[in-house]
Formats: sequence, structure tokens, C-alpha cells
Amino acid sequence: MAMAAEFFHELVFRSPCPPGARDVIMANTDDLLGCLKFSNLRRLDRRAALTSYLLDQVRMGAVACDVPPSFDDEHRALYLQSNFFTTGVAQLAEGVAHLLLALAHHPGVQERMAAEPGDTAFYDRAINESLRMYPLFGISQRITTGPIDVGGETLPAGSVLFFDYEAYHRSGFADPERFDPDRWLTLCPRDVTFIPFGVPGNRPCPARGLSMVFLRAVTAEVLQRFVLYSSAGHTRSMPNRAPCLLLPRAAAAPRPKAALAAMRVRDDWENVARSLTQLVLGSIIVADARRRKLCQRHHASTGRDPHVPRTPESRSSQPKRRTDTRHD
Ligand code: HEM
Repeated sequence: MAMAAEFFHELVFRSPCPPGARDVIMANTDDLLGCLKFSNLRRLDRRAALTSYLLDQVRMGAVACDVPPSFDDEHRALYLQSNFFTTGVAQLAEGVAHLLLALAHHPGVQERMAAEPGDTAFYDRAINESLRMYPLFGISQRITTGPIDVGGETLPAGSVLFFDYEAYHRSGFADPERFDPDRWLTLCPRDVTFIPFGVPGNRPCPARGLSMVFLRAVTAEVLQRFVLYSSAGHTRSMPNRAPCLLLPRAAAAPRPKAALAAMRVRDDWENVARSLTQLVLGSIIVADARRRKLCQRHHASTGRDPHVPRTPESRSSQPKRRTDTRHD
């Protein structure tokens, strides 16, 4: 997460990330990820601290990347916050965490990647396999703009559809629960049930290229310096935040059996406590969302009936709205 925070700071401001700014970015992302996993309630003061930092940067003229020119200062800060310093940092941090935890559980793959840091083809296969088994999006939603036939039934326009990335990614593969980068030697990502960056042509991820470069570079760096071990569980939602032991590679230490046994016990116990916390906080978060009627308020404020498909004319006549991140 620290690396992703510094990376985006340099990308957006073309200047090194001061430690204080990194802490503010990380505190916001850490809090957001905990909230998405129902492990904590959202601390809006952390979000506000990030907005305030970004607004100061915008007002000082420090932004070195393209921002839509029609935006005012506040809108610019929120645009940077939602795209780069929230979604971007969270996605890259989670993507790296999933990959490193998978490698900790598969020492053969890890050793191969450590030995051949320049083998980008194998790196991409391992990254694809991690994204296949642990897609960063769980469920995404769309509102249909026209009728769709599904198995003889017609879904009317305006239906809300939910799509389960994890189930889709596991649906069309032999032995889908096995982490096997070499399955991609004979499979073409375009031809199988695999869309880690979304559906091309329907609002896919704009940061696919950048993300693959980041994942490759960070993983190669980490593996050059450390050997990774873990006995913690690995699930897509990863509420345990992927605990790993990192031992210096140069020291060639033996497998830390006692530490791994302790990690296993700790992870199991934390799972029990965490499940209860998730049940309580998840119920509070869902009840709060229902009480606030976010969707209804959104559609009311745009003056648009969600059951009426949008046309190019209605799109252009929509009032400009404050940027709202998908994640926050
Ligand atoms: C490994 C890293 C990443 C993965 C696997 C990933 C995956 C995805 C997926 C699946 C979607 C489409 C979700 C849907 O179906 O609605 C998406 C959308 C999006 N992603 Fe990423 N993402 C990654 C990194 C990033 C980064 C680093 C950024 C920002 C710099 C980013 C910004 C966005 C934005 C803004 C959208 C919304 C696009 C739209 O609605 O038009 N993503 N991402």
C-alpha cells in the first residue's frame, strides 16, 4: 500500500511523496478496505484529511497530470482522490497482496519467479492466475438499457444486474481451485471465462496496462530481496490482509516452522473474532445504506427514472455531478 501511495503521488504530482502525505493516503485506503471487508466502520475524518491534502496541492498548482479542464478546484481534488488515491491505491495494494500470498503458498512458483525476474511471460501467467482465482472485484452491477432475453425470459430495461466475477472466473477451467500459472500456456485469456479488468466495451478498467506493469515490477523487487512464507488462509475478500513472513533471501534461512504454526493458530482465531465483527458491522452498514436510500436519491437528483433507458440526448442534458468513486 505504501508503494502504491508513493507511486501515485509521483505520477500525479511528479514529486516524491512526503512521509506525512503517504500516511494520509494509506490511512484513508486502509480504512476503506477495512470497511469494504466489513472489518471497520468508515472513518470519514480520514477521507476528509486526504481531500484537504489534495485540495492544497491543487490550489498550489502542483498537479502534473491531465484533469478535465471544466472542473473547479474541489472537483479536481475529488477526481484525483477517487481515481488515483483511493481506487488506484486500493486496487494495486490488493492485487500485490493477493499475488504475494499466492506465491507464499506455492514455493515452486515463487522460486521460479525469483530466479527469472526478467521472464515477463511467466510473471504474466502468475499474475493472471492470481487475478483469476482472486479477482479484485467481487460483484459488479449494471442497469440494463434495453430488454435482454435470458433462457426464454425477458429482463426489461432498467433491471439491475449483478455479476459475480469470482464465480465466472472459476466456471470454465479444469481444476479451478488449483493455482497453476502454466495453465495459461495453452489458454488464451480472451477465449476463456476470464475478465479481471472487466468487459471490454462496457466500462472496463482504464488502468489495466499500468496495473500489470506495477504488479510485475513490485513482485520482482520483493522476490529479489525476500523469501515469502505464509500459513494464513487465502480468500478473495482477504479480510486477514494477507499476512506473510518475509525472510531475507540472501540469508538462506530454513523454513520457519514454529512461526508458521503460530501464524496458522492466530489466523484461525482471528477468523472467529473477525466473523462476528463482520456480522455486526455488515448489518450496520447495510441498514445504514437502506436508510439513506442512496440509489433512489441518486436517481432523484439526476432527475432520471432508472427504468427509462438513457439516450445520447438525455446523457448530454444531465447536470454535471460531483465525482463519486465506485469504491468510496
Ligand atoms: C490489478 C489491478 C486492477 C484490477 C484487477 C482492476 C479491475 C477493474 C474492474 C474489473 C473494473 C470494472 C468493474 C465493473 O465491472 O464495473 C474496473 C474499473 C475501474 N478501475 Fe480498475 N482495476 C485495477 C486497477 C485500477 C487502478 C490502479 C485504477 C486507477 C488508477 C483503476 C481505476 C478504475 C476505474 C476508474 C474504473 C471504473 C471505470 C468506469 O466505470 O468506466 N483500476 N477495474
